[in-house]
Amino acid sequence: VTEPDLRGRHVVVSAGGTREPLDPVRFLGNRSSGKQGYALARTAVARGARVTLVSANAALPDPAGVDVVAVGTAVELREAVLRAAADADAVVMAAAVADFRPAAYAAGKIKKKDGQEPEPVTLVRNPDILAEISGDRVRSGQVIVGFAAETDDVLANGRAKLKRKGCDLLVVNEVGERKTFGSEENEAVVLGADGSETPVAHGPKEALADTVWDLVSERLGE
Ligand code: PMT
Repeated sequence: VTEPDLRGRHVVVSAGGTREPLDPVRFLGNRSSGKQGYALARTAVARGARVTLVSANAALPDPAGVDVVAVGTAVELREAVLRAAADADAVVMAAAVADFRPAAYAAGKIKKKDGQEPEPVTLVRNPDILAEISGDRVRSGQVIVGFAAETDDVLANGRAKLKRKGCDLLVVNEVGERKTFGSEENEAVVLGADGSETPVAHGPKEALADTVWDLVSERLGE
């Protein structure tokens, strides 16, 4: 029996991977399936929360009892997260958000021209949503959780990222072409801004999600 410890709470979860368009046909994207974020949404509902799931390009069925907001790009994800975060008790950023987007969008499909070298793609920075919502808290007592997807020096990079982003908790997981992305399972260390480190053994993404909600629940005030 799950404790309804999130009853009366509004939580926002982002999931999936943003797509940054080059033209009407192509985009820069990443390998996130959305499964970890959807597991967070489902477990939060089971614990009694009202859940807004900001979903970027996830080909997954809407979880029952969840308010799903579909977005495409990082800029759209930012808008949706900021809107939902205004009255949220907790925000969990499980989405894989592109750090950069193409500087220009071609209204028509980019063509290859005979005998010509391809044009380089110029990128510009996307807003850092996690750093933004951690920096100016719209509600006092709001608990903000980030994820860190790392391929090497996983924990050291995670610890540095926690400081840089300014969130309360950071879930550090290792990723690769066939690791974590799209799989049913995950393993992680959840770092707390208070210096705590909670390892979560390899298991279903729901188990990691429940540990995240345990740690969020401990940090939520009355
Ligand atoms: O979706 P799955 O297939 O289940 O895979 C799960 C996952 C690997 C995508 C997930 O567990 C995960 O690690 N999500 C975060 C991916 C990510 O973008 O990590 P990052 O280290 O690049 O970013 C750090 C944090 O900042 C993240 O919380 C991210 O949402 C946030 N961010 C990043 C860039 C940006 N411009 N704005 C942000 O808010």
